[in-house]
Amino acid sequence: MSKRVLVTGGAGFIGSHVADRFLAEGFDVEIVDDLSTGNRKNVPEGAKLHELGVGSAEAARIVETGSFDNVIHLAAQIDVRKSVADPIFDARTNIVGTLTILEAVKRAGSKARVVFTSTGGAIYGDFNTPPNAETFPKDPESPYAISKLAAEYYLAYYGRLHGIEHVALRFGNVYGPRQDPHGEAGVVAIFCSRILSGKPLTIFGDGLQTRDYVYVGDVARAVFLAATSAIPPAERVDARAFNVGTGVGTSVVDLARMLQDAAGSSQEIDFAPKRAGEQQESFLNVGKAAEKLRWKPEVTLPQGLANTFKWAAAASVLQS
Ligand SMILES: NC(=O)c1ccc[n+]([C@@H]2O[C@H](COP(=O)([O-])OP(=O)(O)OC[C@H]3O[C@@H](n4cnc5c(N)ncnc54)[C@H](O)[C@@H]3O)[C@@H](O)[C@H]2O)c1
Repeated sequence: MSKRVLVTGGAGFIGSHVADRFLAEGFDVEIVDDLSTGNRKNVPEGAKLHELGVGSAEAARIVETGSFDNVIHLAAQIDVRKSVADPIFDARTNIVGTLTILEAVKRAGSKARVVFTSTGGAIYGDFNTPPNAETFPKDPESPYAISKLAAEYYLAYYGRLHGIEHVALRFGNVYGPRQDPHGEAGVVAIFCSRILSGKPLTIFGDGLQTRDYVYVGDVARAVFLAATSAIPPAERVDARAFNVGTGVGTSVVDLARMLQDAAGSSQEIDFAPKRAGEQQESFLNVGKAAEKLRWKPEVTLPQGLANTFKWAAAASVLQS
């Protein structure tokens, strides 16, 4: 009999690549997504979509009765600015939504391994000198980062007290095909869209701020390995947490230039005032994922940017 996975947020950017990966590995794939930022078009053929909110009783019933081997929990409020404007909505989706899933897994007998998707870009804050390792102190700078870290603590608690197998993956800045250029997140998607519409690439601040850009195909492979590999015992909150990035910080100016090269574009770059609360340096130590999950990023930034721009160009032709 095929193994079964539930992917929450599977109609979104990363979730749809995760669903692709599990289908390719022979899993039966079901998706819970309310399509708030996701799109039905992203749901791969062969996956079954339940159009539901993660905090709903119906979604909980699916988790409880679906005999899943894995629950990959990606559905979330992902917009940092929205979390600042409406922290209660953020907490409802990201904390209560996660708790609803964990309670349902517990009621189902704690058999399914839960892979939670957290953020390595936001929970470590500005007080550490990167590359940030999993055990570094956490100083989340936004309600979004607080809700992700809170969910990680619940995960660790459910692991210790209720025996729920879990992994928390702390992603860097994920980019690649299907990322929505209309949100606040996703500078690569935004820059691709600006090149294609002949607009300048706007950089906030001096452009020297660094981020750890990791390709979505590599991230989907990390999720699959986290779901299927041997994992450390449930101890402190960091025990089953893994950074997923490249270990390299790239400045926004360098990113913009690399994307221009990949796109064969000479679109102008302009500068706007620095945004309040923006971290200056952020990149991840990914040694633990390499050692314990046998995961390493494979797609270089120039390759990944070329793939992403090619996809964005094809998508914009289809839309026009
Ligand atoms: N993109 C990144 O760089 C990045 C970095 C760190 C962590 N993450 C995490 O990865 C996950 C996926 O992010 P993404 O970039 O693919 O974003 P996305 O917006 O494309 O995907 C989120 C999906 O969740 C769905 N969703 C949102 N609220 C829901 C709810 N209440 N009920 C059901 N479905 C709901 C959306 O419709 C969407 O399909 C999120 O948990 C995010 O916090 C992303």
